[in-house]
This record gives sequence, C-alpha cells and structure tokens, in this order.
Amino acid sequence: MHNFKNALAKAKSGEMLNRQEICALLAAGPEESEELFGAADRVRHDHVGDEVHLRAIIEFSNYCRKNCLYCGLRRDNHSIPRYRLTEQEILEAVKKARELGFRTVVLQSGEDLYYDAKTIAKLVETIKNRHDLAVTLSLGERSREDYLAWREAGADRYLLKQETADEHLFSIIKPDGNMQQRVQCLQWLKDLGYQTGSGNMVGLPGQTLATLAEDIILMRKLDVEMAGIGPFLPHPATPLKAAAPGSPALTLKTLAVTRLCLPQAHLPATTSLCTLTPDGRKLALNCGANVIMPNLTPAGVRDKYLIYPQKADIIEKPEAALNNIQALLTELARPPAQDYGHAKKPPGRSF
Ligand code: 5AD
Ligand code: SF4
Repeated sequence: MHNFKNALAKAKSGEMLNRQEICALLAAGPEESEELFGAADRVRHDHVGDEVHLRAIIEFSNYCRKNCLYCGLRRDNHSIPRYRLTEQEILEAVKKARELGFRTVVLQSGEDLYYDAKTIAKLVETIKNRHDLAVTLSLGERSREDYLAWREAGADRYLLKQETADEHLFSIIKPDGNMQQRVQCLQWLKDLGYQTGSGNMVGLPGQTLATLAEDIILMRKLDVEMAGIGPFLPHPATPLKAAAPGSPALTLKTLAVTRLCLPQAHLPATTSLCTLTPDGRKLALNCGANVIMPNLTPAGVRDKYLIYPQKADIIEKPEAALNNIQALLTELARPPAQDYGHAKKPPGRSF
C-alpha cells in the first residue's frame, strides 16, 4: 500500500520510476487501480492531448517463416488457408482507407520474404506519391539495408513488438530468434529515423510482474514512439493452446504504467484487449491509450489473419467500425485527430 502510494506520487511528479516502483504500481489492487488509471489518464491528457489517432491496418499476407509458440500464423499451423494480396489489392485497400478519412495506413504481414525489399519500397513510394498518408510498416525482422530502403522510399513508422523483455521466455516463445537481434532491429529502426513502435503481451505463461516491469523499462530505454500492449490470447492451433489468457485488469494496469513511464508515446487500445473484453476500447482510452487501429483488410481474406481466435474486428465493415468509434469518442469527449498523428518529438535521424 505504502509502496504503491509512494510510487504513484513519484510518477505524478514526473520523476523516473525504478523497477521496484514499477512493480508496486503493477501490483495495484482494484481500488488502487482506479487511482493509477486516473493518473495515467491525466498524463495522457497533459502530454499528448485528448485527440485519438486512427490508423487503418491492412494485413496483406498471413504467410510467416517463423514459428512463434503463441501465434496462429506460425509456419507449422497448416490448418489456416494462406493468402497474399497483390500490389493492386493492397493499393485498393489503401485508397479506401484514405477515402474514409484515415491519415495513416499500417501495412502488416507475417514474416513473408515473398515481398522482397524492392517490392515493398515500390509500394511505399506509390502510396506516398498517390496519397496524403503516413505509412507505417510492420513486417517483422529484416536487414538494416531493407529498413533503410523502405525509409528512403518514404516509410514514416515501423512496428516491431519486443513481445517480452525476458530473454529466457523470449527464446522459448520465439524459437527462431533471440532478443539481442530483436533489440538490434529496433535500434536500427530508431537510428534510421523511423517513429518506432514496440510492445508486449500481458499474461504469457511464465511471465511475472517483474517481467512486465522489464518490458516497460526496455521500451523506456529504447525511447520508443509507440507501444502496443495487449493480452496474450491462446490460439487452439498452437503449442500454447492450453495456457490461460492474460487478464484484462493486468493489461490495463500495464498500459497505465507504460503511459506514466513514456508520457509522450502513442499507445493503442489494442484489438486483442477488445477481443478479451467488450469494453476494452473504452477502458483503454480512459487509462492512457490515444490510438485506435481499425481493420481495413479486404473482407475476403480478413478472417484468415487469425493471430489469435475470435479477433474482435473480423466481421465488422470499416464503415460500421468507424461509426462505433465515432460514437465512443463523442461519449468520451475525445475528438478524432485530423492530422498524421506523428510522434510529438522528432525520432532519431531523419532524411
Ligand atoms: N495473443 C495475443 N497477441 C498475439 N499476437 C500474436 N499472437 C498473439 C496471441 N496469441 C500479437 C503479437 C504480434 C502481433 C502481430 O500480434 O504481439 O506482435
Ligand atoms: Fe510470424 Fe509474427 Fe506470428 Fe511470430 S508473431 S509467427 S513472426 S506473424
């Protein structure tokens, strides 16, 4: 109790929290959580304002070369049909996003080398030439040269979640990779001037509050511009099918503490949280979140991008989703942003 109060007071005064203090906040009971959420909401208001940024996500390929234990797109999952959108199909989805008023498109896929560096660079260039849009890429771990080519083609941002900052847990749940390489990629991205996003899953088997504290500390150290925090959800066609899902309460606490530790970051109300709890979006927006990422993947393939089951956004049409978002934002007196929603502070190097 004492620890919680001290840590919260320190966070409110803008001081940097240490490991123990972050853990004390993450351990908040139900009443303390309300205080924590209130503090995170205020810091969000003071540092990034009331606007909510809408980013259209286009999931253009569900092929993946990796075999992450938690993910439905893992290469050994032969029970899902695989798809790849053509350049034309991707550009149509981008056009639709712009017509609906979006100022950012997020192009996401599994780690699919079918799209080589040149193809992606050309795609980014075409989008930037045709539309008044910020472009975020989320294509996994690639070489520094690839990241450089895409940055030079005009990509503004890159999302690459660390997933967990626990090196041992990382090597178990992501058997194809290691944490050093992942962190290296994040450093390259920062250095190349991308607004860089990381993030984690809450409730992974074997994870503790100390692990979540490390997650937050790593994101603070990397000085990321964005952080996606969502619950782990077991997928029936993966080795983690019998594991328990992450809890909504702990996910919200992690989001709130991340807001306190990274006051300027863009933090989405994640689709995974909305999948876990119907009120997820509203709850997240009230404890630190300031971004929503509606799904603009074409209807014909959208149900095949099943990283976890019952993904909240697979059925809803973009127009209907936007109406619901607009109603929620009106209720919360949180205006949708009209600009690109770039990070407040300039990222690393720029071209
Ligand atoms: N539960 C929650 N999130 C998941 N992701 C992948 N699989 C799961 C799961 N089972 C998230 C990861 C990844 C993003 C594409 O989806 O955080 O970065
Ligand atoms: Fe592939 Fe990413 Fe899923 Fe891992 S989390 S299997 S890299 S899509």
